[in-house]
Amino acid sequence: MKDYLCVLTVLAVFGWQLQLANSSCNLCQASNDVACINQTAYRMCFGRETPSQDQIFNCPDGLVCTDKPQICFQRSETPASCGDTDSCGRCNANNVFACTSRTTFAFCFGATTPTTVNGTCPVGRFCDASTADICVAKPTPNSIICHLD
Ligand SMILES: *[C@@H]1O[C@H](CO)[C@@H](O)[C@H](O)[C@H]1NC(C)=O
Ligand SMILES: *[C@@H]1O[C@H](CO)[C@@H](O)[C@H](O)[C@H]1NC(C)=O
Repeated sequence: MKDYLCVLTVLAVFGWQLQLANSSCNLCQASNDVACINQTAYRMCFGRETPSQDQIFNCPDGLVCTDKPQICFQRSETPASCGDTDSCGRCNANNVFACTSRTTFAFCFGATTPTTVNGTCPVGRFCDASTADICVAKPTPNSIICHLD
């Protein structure tokens, strides 16, 4: 019964985090007046709080939708505003760890689900599930980042 409650609590916390993550999608960004709707597409805001539903724009190949003034930018330099959260809480390829947010991780110890043994990346680093280093300073084109705050 205790374990059951614990699972419910974890699920509740995760659900709450996922909602937070979604809040950076479809949100008009003051810095460039667009709202990213996924990693590569965006809508115009025209100075309003809600994105215009008229048209969807796509970033050129290799660029992602960011809060930079240029809107679409190199993924290796700036993370997408409305990112992929698919990798959050998923153990990496060899089940060593899972990124639980941009800067936190939890160990998997060979299992497919993360344990509660967790840690935080040093300042200036973020969790990248594609590398054995766990926390890195620079993303690569293969980076697997959990876009949760
Ligand atoms: C983003 O959304 C656009 C428009 O709905 C869609 O065409 C595109 O495939 C999506 N891209 C991703 C990576 O989901
Ligand atoms: C992280 O570890 C702390 C104890 O060090 C624990 O209280 C917390 O629930 C853990 N967080 C997750 C997401 O497992």
